[in-house]
Amino acid sequence: MTDRPTAGIKPRLVVLVSGGGSNLQSFIDACAEGSLNAQVAAVISNKAGVGGLDRAAQVGIPNIAIDHRAFDSREDFDKNLSELIDSFAPDLVVLAGFMRILTPDFVNHFLGKLINIHPSLLPAYPGLHTHQRAIDAGDSEAGATVHFVTPELDGGPSVLQARVPVLADDSAESLASRVLGFEHKIYTAAVQWFCQGRLCMENGNAILDGKSLPEQGVIFSD
Ligand code: GRF
Repeated sequence: MTDRPTAGIKPRLVVLVSGGGSNLQSFIDACAEGSLNAQVAAVISNKAGVGGLDRAAQVGIPNIAIDHRAFDSREDFDKNLSELIDSFAPDLVVLAGFMRILTPDFVNHFLGKLINIHPSLLPAYPGLHTHQRAIDAGDSEAGATVHFVTPELDGGPSVLQARVPVLADDSAESLASRVLGFEHKIYTAAVQWFCQGRLCMENGNAILDGKSLPEQGVIFSD
């Protein structure tokens, strides 16, 4: 395990949000306390007025809304978004509740430096309403997965997964809130691995410390 050779220069994160930004806050806090050796260079949202932009503004991080509805096509929006992201020269682009399906061109432009968290035990339940789907299926466990992004929706290689029991009286909301606490832990941990140069994607596989990870990634334990 080796740290990046660029001593003193912190890897730059550009974080994409569409909502409240609690995962973003965990990055901001971890950078401030030193458990994450990175800097949040910018926060970008496809919606104005969301909590994630406010959280960035409160600590002086550049924050920009780029409204997808102002563009004629998904391709046009993604092209403008990728140019905006590039202007901040990120080492890693972090999707943190960014509720947009991304075009293959966008994903391929950032391939290997684009990471997401999905609130299910991937490969189970790609897409939306994951907690309700886990409850409806009678699953005993739910959770969240950090994964590299590839053009297949929620289909890129898994890095780190937190498993959370589903309780008998869980609603989708209570389960989501319990899982979210674990999201904050696993997402900052996975991004720290990347920033330390321990984690990368090669030939469609997530590699940690030189070894290919299994399908579900590392299973998180507190
Ligand atoms: C998280 O549950 C994340 O897994 C999902 O969207 C939610 C974002 O939450 N993709 P927040 O905006 O980080 O609070």
